[in-house]
Formats: sequence, C-alpha cells, structure tokens
Amino acid sequence: MDINEMQSLLQTKLKPQRYAHCIGVMNTAVELAKRFNVNEKKAALAGLLHDCAREFETSQLLTEAQKRHLYITDIDRQLPILMHAPLGTAIAKEEYGVHDTAILKAIASHTVGGANMSNLDKIIYLADMIEPHRKYDEVDKLRQLAATKDLDTVMISAFDQSITFIMRKGHTIHPYTVAARNEILLNREL
Ligand SMILES: [Fe+2]
Ligand SMILES: [Fe+2]
Repeated sequence: MDINEMQSLLQTKLKPQRYAHCIGVMNTAVELAKRFNVNEKKAALAGLLHDCAREFETSQLLTEAQKRHLYITDIDRQLPILMHAPLGTAIAKEEYGVHDTAILKAIASHTVGGANMSNLDKIIYLADMIEPHRKYDEVDKLRQLAATKDLDTVMISAFDQSITFIMRKGHTIHPYTVAARNEILLNREL
C-alpha cells in the first residue's frame, strides 16, 4: 500500500476533523524532518498514521488492546484514550501493512513520550502538538521554538506545556512523559 492508498483508507475510518488533523501532522512532520535531518518518508507515514486507532471509540480502546495482548497500565485504565497510541502500532501493521519498527515506535510514543526517544519519535510528538489545526494559548510560542531552536530545547518546552495542561486538569502525570523530559535534561548536564 502506498501513502496515497493509506490516506484514502484512513479517510474512510476517521471523522473529517480527525482526518484533517492527521494530514496536518503529516505535513508538519515532513517540515520538521527537513529541519532536523530525519527521514522524510518515515516522518510522513508516522505523522499520517499516528492517530489511526482513533477509528475506535474511546470506550472500545481497552478491549481492542486486550484482544491484541498489549501492555495496559493503571494510568491507561484510568485514561483509556492513552491506549490509542500503542494500539495505533497494531492497527498500522494490521490495516496499513506498516512494519517499519522506527515508524511503529513513533506512533506508540506520540501521546506520552518515553525514554530513548529517537528524533523521529520527537518530531511526531511535536508535530501532533503544533500542526496548523491545533489551538491553545501557547501553541504559537511552541511553533516559534520549533522553527528556531534545537530539537531537545523544543521538546522540553513541549513536555512542560503538556505536563502543565495535565496538572491543571487534575489528571495523573504519565511516568513516560517525566522519563522523557528527565532524560533530555540529564543528558544535557553530562
Ligand atoms: Fe493521538
Ligand atoms: Fe494526534
């Protein structure tokens, strides 16, 4: 299946707004790939498919994950929407024939991040936050940073934004996000 066929299939599965977001993430991911020397084709595919598991309702996500024997944490049980990322890797394989492990890992880590993020993982996480349809107070500041600063500096700001947002909502901070942020800071201090 080529990327045009994947787009057509994804469009049949997602609501129009969600599909438009995926196209936005794909295009932003390609821009970021050029800026940060990441494989553009992999960035395009991971960006396009990052939310492919959103074809399921949130209430179905845990069941679909269980069917595929995916690892489910307490936080996933409390916030089942988080499962669309790891489930997305399974759907990308099953329905879109994607087996590239770098692309699948970027899909899996796009929501909460994680330790050992590759540059591809980082730009997909970032593209999801700054694609043109996104609207929140700090989005323009993050877009500006993404256009001018080094990738790890932008990632720290992205994690800060995400953690602050989650804290304000009173939700649990995912340990993977904390691990990803700490790892960048620790590596900088070495
Ligand atoms: Fe997502
Ligand atoms: Fe997304």
